Amino acid sequence: MINQRIKEMMNRQIKNELESYYIYLSMVAYFHSLNLDGMAHWMRCQAHEEMTHAMKFFDYIIDRGGSVELLDLKQLQTSWNSPAEAWEAAYHHEQFITEKISELMKAIREENEYIAEPLIAWFINEQVQEEADTSKISEQVKLVNESKEGLLLLDRELGTRVFPAGSPLDRLAYQVAN
Ligand code: FEO
Repeated sequence: MINQRIKEMMNRQIKNELESYYIYLSMVAYFHSLNLDGMAHWMRCQAHEEMTHAMKFFDYIIDRGGSVELLDLKQLQTSWNSPAEAWEAAYHHEQFITEKISELMKAIREENEYIAEPLIAWFINEQVQEEADTSKISEQVKLVNESKEGLLLLDRELGTRVFPAGSPLDRLAYQVAN
């Protein structure tokens, strides 16, 4: 049976991951509005990935005999002044998520809930990647600055991202792919 404090923290983390999904979906719409379809595609893949993250906590709580509580989602930022501002916001959001995952690891150790450690260790590794990706793209967007050619080239490159998992709601698909 899942520890009560860990269950509550994981339910809040489902909300955090769904809010990540929501904010990145807003970025999909924002990038499309600028005809930056490659960036929109990259963010669409990212939004899907965030849904799989939420579902990993969702399934874990169920597997451990806990009750999933879907909390109200907050309306986060929905528009940005430039692509650079949007990518920087994505990087800062990932840093916030890293903080939350670290708090979960600390709580698991305090509560002796070691059975949850492999799941949280997976998320810690994932956050290294998520911060690295958003930080690198954010810096690259700043580098091309006013160059429309540079921005379009970067947009093309980001449009090649592949999201391997099937539906983010299909447990089998996301477990195999992640
Ligand atoms: Fe699920 Fe991007 O953190």
